[in-house]
Amino acid sequence: MIKKVGVVGAGTMGAGIAQVTAEAGYEVILIDLEDKFVNRGMENILKNWSKAIKKGTLTAKEVDQIKVRLTGTTNYDNLNDCQLVIEAVVEKMSIKKELFAKLDDICPAETLFASNTSALSITELAAATKRPNQVIGVHFFNPVPVMKLVELIPGAETTAETVTAMKEYCSAIGKEAIVVKESPGFIVNRLLIPYINEAAIIYDQGVASPAEIDQAMKLGANMPMGPLALADLIGIDVCLMIMEYFFDEMADSKYRPALAFKQKVRAGHLGRKTGKGFFDYN
Ligand code: CAA
Repeated sequence: MIKKVGVVGAGTMGAGIAQVTAEAGYEVILIDLEDKFVNRGMENILKNWSKAIKKGTLTAKEVDQIKVRLTGTTNYDNLNDCQLVIEAVVEKMSIKKELFAKLDDICPAETLFASNTSALSITELAAATKRPNQVIGVHFFNPVPVMKLVELIPGAETTAETVTAMKEYCSAIGKEAIVVKESPGFIVNRLLIPYINEAAIIYDQGVASPAEIDQAMKLGANMPMGPLALADLIGIDVCLMIMEYFFDEMADSKYRPALAFKQKVRAGHLGRKTGKGFFDYN
């Protein structure tokens, strides 16, 4: 029975996961390498709760009760009594594997491990632990408090019990879970990231400006936001990383990354998080 959840990585996704998990009644440990990352994640969560109080979706009393369940820390030993640990750290296989091997030593044998990876192989991540049967992909979408879907991705050795436990967790936090066979990008990113990449290629070719490309998709296809604003929301570095992974994994030229992604990443213009991407946020 899951009661206490560890979330490793206090960035946009990790903070969102910690927020919705605490709101659902779980005890939550939000962890990152440095205090400044933990503090930023905690501040973002507190901002969302202040907005919720203003909107009337939560009362101040409810927020006080939820806050007590959420602890931010840099001490990994605090994860030693969690029944579930979800990692939302940087999208690098080597870093995630190292983390899982470390968690394997800290957490009890029954703890489930989940990865919020947006594309990487769960089987490969699970192989870094001595409990590959208890490792699963749990892919959330940005902004986590708003987006209803979670993709659940069992690896080669993930058991049905692990999948069932994660379905229960997703339902408890108010998300709709879809179980997806392991494959690059699962369902959503396999479709979404090549679409965003094509928008960046259109921009590279001078077909239209970023504002026009986005307006076209909003007015012509009823998208809630245009593909290039979405690239800025996701992070252009993340979009590039996913396209490069598709290109390598599927050895198919149709997944070649747009030059605009590469140029913007080289310039440090990663989207909203740096204040500039296809659009300027300053
Ligand atoms: N955190 C919490 N709540 C947020 C939020 C955030 N970061 N951003 C928006 N919201 C809430 C707002 O408070 C508002 O709530 P109420 O309706 O209760 O007032 C609601 O969402 C709508 O927001 P806005 O009115 O500000 O703006 P909007 O109607 O344009 O919606 C949006 C914003 C939800 C982001 C919408 O534009 C949208 O759905 N965009 C597409 C997002 C998307 O495709 N996400 C998936 C990205 S892919 C991914 O994440 C996976 C990956 O691995 C890369």
